[in-house]
Amino acid sequence: MEKLVIEGGKPLSGAIRIHGAKNAALPILAASIMAEGTITIENVPDLSDIHVMLGILRALGCRAELVGDNVTVSTNAVHQFHIPESLMSQMRSSIFLMGPLLSRLGRVELYQPGGCAIGERKIDLHLQGLAALGAHIEENGSQIVCTANELHGAEIVLDYPSVGATENIMMAAATARGMTTITNAAREPEIQDLQNFLNAMGARIIGAGTDTITIEGVAELIPCTYRIIPDRIVAGTLMIAAAVTRGNVTLEKVCPAHLTSAIHVLKRAGVQITINGDIMNVCALSRPKSVERIVTSPYPSFPTDLQSQIMVLLSLADGVSIVKETVFEGRFKHVDELSRMGADIRVDLNSAYIRGVPRLYGATVEATDLRAGAALVIAGLAAQGSTVIEQIHHIDRGYDRIELMLASLGAGIHRTTPVPTE
Ligand code: UD1
Repeated sequence: MEKLVIEGGKPLSGAIRIHGAKNAALPILAASIMAEGTITIENVPDLSDIHVMLGILRALGCRAELVGDNVTVSTNAVHQFHIPESLMSQMRSSIFLMGPLLSRLGRVELYQPGGCAIGERKIDLHLQGLAALGAHIEENGSQIVCTANELHGAEIVLDYPSVGATENIMMAAATARGMTTITNAAREPEIQDLQNFLNAMGARIIGAGTDTITIEGVAELIPCTYRIIPDRIVAGTLMIAAAVTRGNVTLEKVCPAHLTSAIHVLKRAGVQITINGDIMNVCALSRPKSVERIVTSPYPSFPTDLQSQIMVLLSLADGVSIVKETVFEGRFKHVDELSRMGADIRVDLNSAYIRGVPRLYGATVEATDLRAGAALVIAGLAAQGSTVIEQIHHIDRGYDRIELMLASLGAGIHRTTPVPTE
């Protein structure tokens, strides 16, 4: 098993370019099968989740290749509507194929993605939305079969602004007959990116980024070339890493407007942030201040995907902070690991009470999920002594060679690969 080894205590400094957004690239790659021909997606990050998605596209009959940061998908031969359980279990985002396969082939067979380390993660809102568009849904144990001779527009009100459900419904509705409105839609920037991609293929969608999205179904979509937005969670992770190491880091090719709530929280913690177009400088000269209360909730509020990372900063802050997690019920797995590094955190239901300590200490810890893993990397960078992080395949799902990114900013970090035994 590979591990990350970190020698803590070195301030990060220098400039780094932010790679493309995983959470935008995954639904966009899934949506590419809705057009027949060759689609080129630029600024795609080289992540294990992206490779799983490319594997799924190939299993459906596509040719799909990542060269540099460009993906080309040739979709002429899409014929397969069954997504094997082995691929579903590797990545929850395989459910993004539901809307596109219904649109392209009128049928999709897949499996419940199931729960995961951060919560139950149901897909009832995806299924309700697709049913409202005219899909017939059968559930046999963990298998789900959706069929539709023809999808039609509908007025859909989501009980909760689910990111994935909003995206699946948008994709299915893009080629449905008539108008669809999604009320209480999720407003994340990745949804705007999906809208822009679908429109570049000829769809007629407006409203993404607001809570009402209107989709006028079109007869067919055509291939295009499209560039993915920068990854706001990778940017936020690096901002927090710069802050906890009292560093001075410049992020390039970033979209500051997507990070408003994170910037606000970091400024409250005393971090200096200056913005110039798509360049952002993050500088911290002293110990962070506590932040009375941070509540994670859907965009534009503070993102659940930065909750674990900000907790590291608050663990080192001067004073007591409270973090309330409202999106995923099981997202405090990093607390035990941070406590092993000397953090003083008490969890009560979905709130964490964090009493800042002057320093964290290196330890051997385990990444329990993607963002928890990123938090442990940040903790290791700030800690006194060395930290070993295990189960780092979780981190590779969302950060393109995190050790190279951080080493380029002066961090003492490297990956160890076990020597094979005979
Ligand atoms: C996406 C992101 C993930 C991020 C999350 C919230 C991708 C690939 N992943 O995940 O990184 O943490 O948004 O910002 O974009 N829910 C239901 N029923 C459903 C769907 C969701 O109850 O049918 C619940 C979930 O259990 C969860 C909440 O809604 O408690 C939010 O989930 P959702 O917004 O759907 O997140 P994802 O799309 O899975």
